[in-house]
Amino acid sequence: MARKIVVTSGKGGVGKTTVAASLSAYLARKGQRVVLCDADLGLNNIDVATGVESLITYDIVDVIEGRCRAVQALVQHPDFPNLYVLTSSHSAPERYVSPQAFKLVLDTLAPKFDFIFIDCPAGIEDGFHRAVASANEAMVITTPQVSAIRDADKVITLLKSYDFSAISLLVNRVRGDLLFSGDCLMPQEIEKLLKTPLIGVIPEEYSVATGALSDIHTAVKTVGNNLLTGKKKLYDTTRKYAGFFGGLRRMLKRNL
Ligand SMILES: Nc1ncnc2c1ncn2[C@@H]1O[C@H](COP(=O)(O)OP(=O)(O)OP(=O)(O)O)[C@@H](O)[C@H]1O
Ligand SMILES: [Mg+2]
Repeated sequence: MARKIVVTSGKGGVGKTTVAASLSAYLARKGQRVVLCDADLGLNNIDVATGVESLITYDIVDVIEGRCRAVQALVQHPDFPNLYVLTSSHSAPERYVSPQAFKLVLDTLAPKFDFIFIDCPAGIEDGFHRAVASANEAMVITTPQVSAIRDADKVITLLKSYDFSAISLLVNRVRGDLLFSGDCLMPQEIEKLLKTPLIGVIPEEYSVATGALSDIHTAVKTVGNNLLTGKKKLYDTTRKYAGFFGGLRRMLKRNL
């Protein structure tokens, strides 16, 4: 039975889609059967993030409105045979989809998979509720910026009113050079502030931003392994900035 994990955040644009897509690809490569579901009905961007936009025949609204079965709407990723993308509506963006109908589709798929990742839309309106109500675990993404942490705090409070077996925290876009110079909150400090266990730390890096699924960042792999093993290993974003050459890197960054 699949673990249904909603990837959510308070503030928008903090990396939910990027993290959900790369984490799904990594776990699929490890042999897990994974569904990556776009809960952002209307703005559908998981298909673009995973590069399957030209392969879509049906989407989740087609399933809900009875035009196809749930398995028929899954797009098997050409590079990761164990990764199936369930795209959101590309034809009827404003169609109302109830949380119950959405959950039913995922529950139908759950027995055949190991993981279902639900990429939550930005904001805490209807789309948020629909995505969150269909999951049994939540992963909250924040960046180290105060505004994002404050919004993560609000969303964690909201999540506590749902019935989750686990709520975890992932700090994205961490700059090792700023951590080193003490100009940024440590992920562990953010964990304490939000009173939510840290499952991952991902650095601010171009290679993550490009979302190249074929080249998954070690930090993402560490999060994936934590999900599989229950361990809490964290990627060290400062390592690159330690020692003599690290000092040079920090100086160069400062002078940019
Ligand atoms: N670790 C990272 N390093 C550098 N850039 C990143 C990183 N993570 C995400 N980004 C970039 O940040 C931008 C927003 O990411 P993404 O679309 O994944 O956020 P989101 O939370 O899904 O946004 P929305 O709330 O609009 O759905 C993208 O341009 C992405 O490439
Ligand atoms: Mg997104």
